[in-house]
Amino acid sequence: MFQYSEKVMDHFMHPRNVGEIENADGEGTVGNPICGDLMTFYIKVKDGRLADIKFKTFGCGAAIAVSSIVTEMAIGKTLEEAMAITNKMVAAELGGLPKNKLHCSNLGADALHAAIEDYWKKQGKAPIQRKRRAK
Ligand code: FES
Repeated sequence: MFQYSEKVMDHFMHPRNVGEIENADGEGTVGNPICGDLMTFYIKVKDGRLADIKFKTFGCGAAIAVSSIVTEMAIGKTLEEAMAITNKMVAAELGGLPKNKLHCSNLGADALHAAIEDYWKKQGKAPIQRKRRAK
């Protein structure tokens, strides 16, 4: 039987940056149509960097751990650096996830990227051409 890593358990039991940012600069929601889980990210941007990130995840334990670690990976980064975070990097940062839970880690970077794209849209910036992210 697969054992979740200590890091997954830690971020599931004590998720960082849970909540909502009022008057967020950008907001992005993604969902998985199969399990029905939903993840929303809120961002605050200062001088081109992610000054704050909060999330609300209606989902499984792995999805909560993923959301939490993504906020830690991205806070303080430039928007471009945050856009370069891939789902694979998120799963690796958590010390791996079981195969049937990898779809949960796919939501994390996607929700963050959706919030950044929302910010750019609000700034009147055209969406950047993204390379297909590794799943
Ligand atoms: Fe759907 Fe984890 S079971 S996100």
